[in-house]
Amino acid sequence: MSKADLIVGLQWGDEGKGKIVDHMAQTHDYVCRFAGGHNAGHTIVIGEKRYALHLIPSGVLNPKAKNIVGNGVVLSPEDFIEEMAQFDDLQGRLFISDKAHLLLSYHAQIDQARERLKGKDAIGTTGKGIGPAYGDKITRTGHRVGELLEPEKLHKRILRYFEINRPLFEAMGIAQPDAKRLLADLKRYKEALAPYITDTVQMMWRILAEEKRVLLEGAQGTMLDIDHGTYPYVTSSTTVSAGACAGLGINPKDIGKVVGIAKAYCTRVGNGPFPSEDNGEAGKRLREKGDEFGTTTGRPRRCGWFDAVAARHAVRINGVDSIALMKLDVLDGFEEIKVCIAYRLPNGETIDYVPYDMDEVTPVYRSFKGWERSKGARSFDALPKEAQAYIEALEEMAGCKIGIVSTGADRDDTVVR
Ligand code: GDP
Ligand code: IMO
Ligand code: MG
Repeated sequence: MSKADLIVGLQWGDEGKGKIVDHMAQTHDYVCRFAGGHNAGHTIVIGEKRYALHLIPSGVLNPKAKNIVGNGVVLSPEDFIEEMAQFDDLQGRLFISDKAHLLLSYHAQIDQARERLKGKDAIGTTGKGIGPAYGDKITRTGHRVGELLEPEKLHKRILRYFEINRPLFEAMGIAQPDAKRLLADLKRYKEALAPYITDTVQMMWRILAEEKRVLLEGAQGTMLDIDHGTYPYVTSSTTVSAGACAGLGINPKDIGKVVGIAKAYCTRVGNGPFPSEDNGEAGKRLREKGDEFGTTTGRPRRCGWFDAVAARHAVRINGVDSIALMKLDVLDGFEEIKVCIAYRLPNGETIDYVPYDMDEVTPVYRSFKGWERSKGARSFDALPKEAQAYIEALEEMAGCKIGIVSTGADRDDTVVR
């Protein structure tokens, strides 16, 4: 039996997971997604070419790697088919769980309608329908990918779903689907996806028994986890390492090394607490230098300093063995670099853990001396002394070693220690 290596985001998503999955896919036979949907956006740069992936595992860019979309994912057939079109024939390289839940156009309509109704309290979702699709799964009113194999039956069930939910849809101003068009869509989905749909749980057990090298690709980040993030400003899935087991049908003993991905600073897209956010010049500079605009929605990302409290929380929850520290080069040229080392509560008390209510805390900072240039460095020794000191201090504060440092978006701008 081999053990599967796992990659998870340690912050609020967009840490650079795609780049490291692509890097590690070079030495793995399978790459598997276990949670989330096409709310994720993973950008991978190979030479001149830039790929934006949402639901297809980032192993797809390695011709030797096979890719599995696990049962824990919510899958929009429409968007998935469009994403597949970027690649030549994926048959034999891509497998979709029959138990993954379907995300259909009405889920996105409900998501957007809810956000509108919430007004200033909106979560700032991607509007892709993630919450409503997981909601249907949990309330047992969802439909699974396997049902696509019998479109007529599924069609009847969806029309029945609409009948039951008619009052809700009417109140939200969402039109009932055109029955004929819906059936045509479902048949089209079957046509395009049937060759890929399979029992991926059996497949996981088989490939681990065959000693294949398996990589599990997390989406989103720890602070967006439904239980351990900044609820309700989170996504609707278990983004932490525990989600990999349920989302693929494996057990905790099947997991080997856990790699946590963190940026050398922090970003967040959407609303909700972000203690180390910088609304001044530094934040603006991080956004511009880091090109911090969402891969999925194009929204500007909120930017701020590395949060060592959140990082420690994430290291413990995920069981991180090694951190990949991303986008170090974005800090090049800053005179002063700050790190949030503790939170201060309104009563003046200082804490070193993530509390129930993150809205109430203000950051306590430690200041570091900046450096000129780390961009493109490919060994630890090639990094400026101040950058080396920064990395070593982060290891100490996060309570975990930093095994990879990324100094540019390109595949090769990577320091492996
Ligand atoms: P993911 O969602 O965690 O996969 O991350 P995203 O792809 O959404 O966002 C990370 C962005 O940073 C992408 O545009 C990457 O190409 C880019 N990137 C990754 N690593 C580095 C790095 O070390 N330096 C710079 N400048 N950009 C990077
Ligand atoms: P990757 O995999 C960053 C955020 C949204 C919003 C909240 C809920 O690229 O790191 P949702 O549409 O999931 O219901 O939105 O979660 N969000 C992400 N932020 N990176 C992501 O994925 C995200 N996926 C969801 O912006 O705040
Ligand atoms: Mg992203």
